[in-house]
Amino acid sequence: MGSTERRTRWELAGAATAGYGTTFAALVASGADVDGEARLADALAPRGARILDAGSGMGRVAAYLTGRGHRVLAVEPDPTLVAQSLATYPDVPVLELDILDVDADALAATGGPVEFDLVVAVGNVMVFLAEGTEREVLERLRDVLAPGGRLLVGFHLDGGPATARRYSAEEFSADVVAAGLRVDHRFGSYELHPPDDEYAVWVLSPAVATGIGHEPPPI
Ligand SMILES: C[S@@+](CC[C@H](N)C(=O)[O-])C[C@H]1O[C@@H](n2cnc3c(N)ncnc32)[C@H](O)[C@@H]1O
Repeated sequence: MGSTERRTRWELAGAATAGYGTTFAALVASGADVDGEARLADALAPRGARILDAGSGMGRVAAYLTGRGHRVLAVEPDPTLVAQSLATYPDVPVLELDILDVDADALAATGGPVEFDLVVAVGNVMVFLAEGTEREVLERLRDVLAPGGRLLVGFHLDGGPATARRYSAEEFSADVVAAGLRVDHRFGSYELHPPDDEYAVWVLSPAVATGIGHEPPPI
């Protein structure tokens, strides 16, 4: 089933989500650091990587990664945020689509990569999905990974936006396994603090290894 029948929590929240775009526009304009998630993503990726930013919002993560020389595709279903992203970061391609509708045909139509070394779903995307679609979304993201590819996911376990769901670490871990993935790492922040009960940052990879995906350093 595609996304048509299943509205995301983000969409259902309506005007309650408007603050995200305006807040980040103001932060970017003020020169504030909005790149913490993207810096970790960059560290996880090989140089010149193919990266999918799933639920890319106003584009800050995709823009940073594009600036680091990666080939980035942003995917975002909210038309207001797509417009903001294209206006703010015209060099970052955005596919206006729900993650559940991202398939080989949709990717091929972009003329860009059809598989990715890294998929990023940060900034609470996982807690704004349509109800009951979490495993399907994780499967969809797993399916677009290139051999050796990984996923970076981050969301509030507690104290997140009022319109988001509460997603415990245990429930998420079970969904990860059900989706044919495994947890490589869990941290408490994008600066790699130890796990805590408020926020979780996850590095995931396919449960069945599809490649080593890295080379040892020369020294
Ligand atoms: C709080 S915003 C974060 C945006 C961006 N990742 C960031 O960190 O700046 C949450 C985003 O999740 C997106 N989202 C929720 N469900 C989605 C789905 N099924 N497919 C794609 N994006 C989705 C929303 O449209 C929204 O842009």
